[in-house]
Amino acid sequence: MTRVRHYLMCRPDYFAVEYAINPWMDPEAGADRSRAIRQWEGLKAVYEELGHRVDLIEPIDGLPDMVFAANGALVVDGKVYGARFANAERGPEGPAYLTWFLGRGFSEVKEPEHVNEGEGDFLSLDHVILAGTGFRTRPPAHHEAQEFFGRPVVTLRLVDPRYYHLDTALFPLDGGNVAYYPGAFSPGSRAVLERMFPDAVIASAEDAAVLGLNAVSDGRHIVINAEAGGLELELKRRGYDVIPVDLSELRKAGGGPKCCTLEIRS
Ligand code: ARG
Repeated sequence: MTRVRHYLMCRPDYFAVEYAINPWMDPEAGADRSRAIRQWEGLKAVYEELGHRVDLIEPIDGLPDMVFAANGALVVDGKVYGARFANAERGPEGPAYLTWFLGRGFSEVKEPEHVNEGEGDFLSLDHVILAGTGFRTRPPAHHEAQEFFGRPVVTLRLVDPRYYHLDTALFPLDGGNVAYYPGAFSPGSRAVLERMFPDAVIASAEDAAVLGLNAVSDGRHIVINAEAGGLELELKRRGYDVIPVDLSELRKAGGGPKCCTLEIRS
């Protein structure tokens, strides 16, 4: 179902690739910040043209990955489950995002006990929250989220370091179906996905390798990395309006459209 979405984003004013915490990042090669800012502005403009609401959190000097707002929290039913980052480099982002929510009148805010990277590893559908583990978010956080939200959380195991967050390997098409790249998951988790989503869109290795699965759907429009041509065709065939964006500079840090977007679900 299409409805107006509420997103939180963070301008990449301090974006850089200066450490490597995933295989996409090469500090030697670095990244072009001005180009990243232009591409990010393009993504924000797409959301606004679609009629969605975009709020901004102030970027912090010294936190080059803070542009990846998806990792800042998981917000469902107006309740905010804070992030606790696996890597020290991103540690201060957790409290920074929590403070943003506390300052905006969100009253049900949970400071996490367990390591979890927000919507990077938690993807919310109508009746279930899918939760990734293997590289960043730890399984006890899946349990913590289930207790906090009172919604079933299904654990999925990621096995390929290039797809270190669930949102690099899978995205919800709507409240009841998903697109994913099977090669990113353990055999058991692949079987779970097949049972839960017999009608899923299956992405190729090529589309996954340009972070094509790091896409954002509002139920009708799908904002996706421009290079994911095969996936784009299949999504169009299924009746979606596909909006390709160029976020190639942010991909140098291992991120795409979804990573830059935290959905605030009321
Ligand atoms: N460099 C960041 C990291 O490794 C990229 C985060 C991408 N975010 C995401 N939701 N997948 O943590």
